[in-house]
Amino acid sequence: MTSPESIALIRSLSAVRQFADRPIPRQARDDIFEVVRWSGNASNRQQFEVLWVEDRDLLQRLAGTEGYAKHLAGAAAGAVIATWMERDELNAFDEGRIAERIMLAAHAHGISSCIGWLRGRGGEEAKQLLGLPADRTVRTTISLGFAAEGARRGRRRRPTGEVIRIAGRS
Ligand SMILES: Cc1cc2nc3c(=O)[nH]c(=O)nc-3n(C[C@H](O)[C@H](O)[C@H](O)COP(=O)(O)O)c2cc1C
Repeated sequence: MTSPESIALIRSLSAVRQFADRPIPRQARDDIFEVVRWSGNASNRQQFEVLWVEDRDLLQRLAGTEGYAKHLAGAAAGAVIATWMERDELNAFDEGRIAERIMLAAHAHGISSCIGWLRGRGGEEAKQLLGLPADRTVRTTISLGFAAEGARRGRRRRPTGEVIRIAGRS
């Protein structure tokens, strides 16, 4: 892949919440797993785990937990990130990095995705559904699948000059 192609791939990632009834191909799944494994993380402590869910019943149940992850119900697969560092800001940062990489790896295969954040009791509910131990933090889920026809995409952004300012000499 050339640099412009790589940049186009990264830049064009957008959230999709409506999915076609089509499974994730095995190669795409394996590639996503490989990317997760190599995700950069705090001090390389690797205190994270991703639960991959294709089971329809479990996806429905996860979608029913408290939060903003209802779109898991229609996804071909869901990824739930569990972390267990003592400082929650480290958990949150690792989660963000892993989530973005999962989404980009999926995108490289033409697979769409959206983050779904659990809130309130949602994290504990998800832990229970997934049989995770008490010390795990669960907050970030990702819905994945091929985009449904006519799936909505929001692509508004502030101009570059507002988002990025050159500080000091350049
Ligand atoms: C930290 C974070 C949490 C998010 N939580 C949710 C969420 O709970 N539910 C959801 O549908 N989208 C969620 N999103 C997706 C954003 O709504 C989406 O990225 C944003 O609207 C920009 O849309 P775009 O990526 O398609 O340009 C989240 C994104 C981030 C970065």
